[in-house]
Parts: sequence; C-alpha cells; structure tokens
Amino acid sequence: MTRLAGVIGDPIGHSRSPRLHGHWLRRYGIDGHYVPLHVRADDLARTLDLLPRLGFAGVNVTIPHKEAVFHLAETATDRARAVGAANTLSFSDGAIHADNTDGAGFVANLRQGAPGWAADRPALVLGAGGAARGIVAALLDLGVPEITLANRTEARAQTLAAGFDDRVGVVPWDRAEARLGGRGLLVNTTSLGMAGQPRMALSLDALPHDALVTDIVYTPLRTALLTRAELRGNPTVDGLGMLLHQAVPGFAAWFGVTPEVDDDLRRAVLS
Ligand code: ATR
Repeated sequence: MTRLAGVIGDPIGHSRSPRLHGHWLRRYGIDGHYVPLHVRADDLARTLDLLPRLGFAGVNVTIPHKEAVFHLAETATDRARAVGAANTLSFSDGAIHADNTDGAGFVANLRQGAPGWAADRPALVLGAGGAARGIVAALLDLGVPEITLANRTEARAQTLAAGFDDRVGVVPWDRAEARLGGRGLLVNTTSLGMAGQPRMALSLDALPHDALVTDIVYTPLRTALLTRAELRGNPTVDGLGMLLHQAVPGFAAWFGVTPEVDDDLRRAVLS
C-alpha cells in the first residue's frame, strides 16, 4: 500500500520538507508520497482527525502550529514535553503521538559538521523563540555547563530561562557582545541574517577563536555571521543540516527506513 505523510503549516509554500522527504523516497525506492498541506489554525483539529482516516502515517508540523498540535496529541515524548511543542506527529492505534526532533536535529548537525567540538564550555544563544527552546534543552542534555540567552525582547528570554535550572541565564540584547569571552559555542536562533531580514550586527571580537559558531538560518547558507566567524578562524556549522537531521525520525517512523543525511541530500534540498 502506498504510504502517505506530509507537512502542515500556514504558510507552507516555502517548506523544503517535501523536497527532502521526496529525495529519500526516491533513493530508497519506497512506494510513498510526502505532501505540503496548507492548514489554517481553525482547521487544525479537524485536519488531524481526518488525516489518519485518509491513510496518513503522520506529518511534520511547522509554523504556527507546533504548540497547538502538542496539546491535541494523545501521547508525547519527553523531549516534546520539555519544549511544549511538537514538529513530528505519528498516527497509530487511533491516537496522535507527538515528538519534537528539532533539538536532536540541531545536535546531530553539530556532531556531523564539527566532530571535534566538545560541550565543555559555556554557550551563548541568541534568540528566545520556539527554536531556541529545543536547542537549549538539547545543549543541556549534551552537558554544556552554562547557557546565556540574549534576546531583543528580554522578557521572552527570562520566560525561557525560567523553564530550566540555574545553568541558563539571561543578558540584555545589547550586552551579548561583551559576554562572548570564554564561550565554546555561539548559536543564532533569531531570524537576523535571513534573506529579506535585517543583518546580524553582533561583533565577534571577544569570542575565543576556537569557539564553534552556528546559525539556524540557512537562506542564505553562508550567513554573514558564519562568514565573519570563518574569516577570524572560528569553526562554523551552517543551519541546513539541522533541517535535514530533524527529519530523520519522522521518515523512519512513517516509511520504515532510517535515512542518511549526506551531500547528495544537501544538494537535492538546495537545488
Ligand atoms: P522561532 O519559533 O522559529 O524561533 P520566533 O518565535 O518568531 O521564531 O522567534 C524569532 C526570534 O528572532 C526571536 O528571538 C526574535 O526576537 P523577539 O523575541 O524580540 O521577537 C528574533 N528576532 C526577529 N527579528 C529580530 C530583529 N530585527 N532583531 C533582533 N531579534 C529579532
């Protein structure tokens, strides 16, 4: 029987997930389809009710539904609970099962892109949106001893930090540069530097030259932040790999094959 999965969001036209899963379906010769579904908030509950009855094995979830689907699901993994949001749903036994693979995707991307990096020094995370939450949880799991958050809207960073223990602290947005000393990792989870968005103006002068710099923005692939980091000798990892790695558990659950993240896939998703 042809297997079905997809991605739900509003808007959905920009999603690279259909290309990514489509590449894996072809590569592994699987009889299946992965489709983009434009679902408005008002239709979300009805859609989740109907998709399993139409034969869907599950869906990825993107903006703005990640929190709402978590509350609609019957079961959730610990890592989805830690974030209070889900990006991967599986339908089985008449129930919706929620998972959040963003943090694991972020870490798998660092592992693949910077195999020598060690989680033994403090990190600085820019941003406090949905993406930041999963990344902070994953970095703490990995053993990063201290994480400092800086966000334009400081109250949002305070709220995020309050959900974790005292390893997570906050600095005002305009003090982030001054707090780069001694860091082993700098992560941008804001939309700054994305095509069409304002530039990331943060000066890297105080950052140790061996600190890893990574950006979850992947349009463009080489953001100005990554280019500036590279020019001063810092190792860098781009954001595309997070998108690719976060997709692995869903594909494995719906289509029964654990897929590879490699250069072929990167090219397919970028083309
Ligand atoms: P996501 O869930 O994908 O992380 P989000 O919740 O909208 O998306 O978060 C976007 C992040 O980019 C936020 O940290 C946001 O800062 P605010 O909380 O102050 O909105 C940050 N961001 C967006 N535009 C920004 C800008 N021009 N300057 C600084 N930060 C910005």
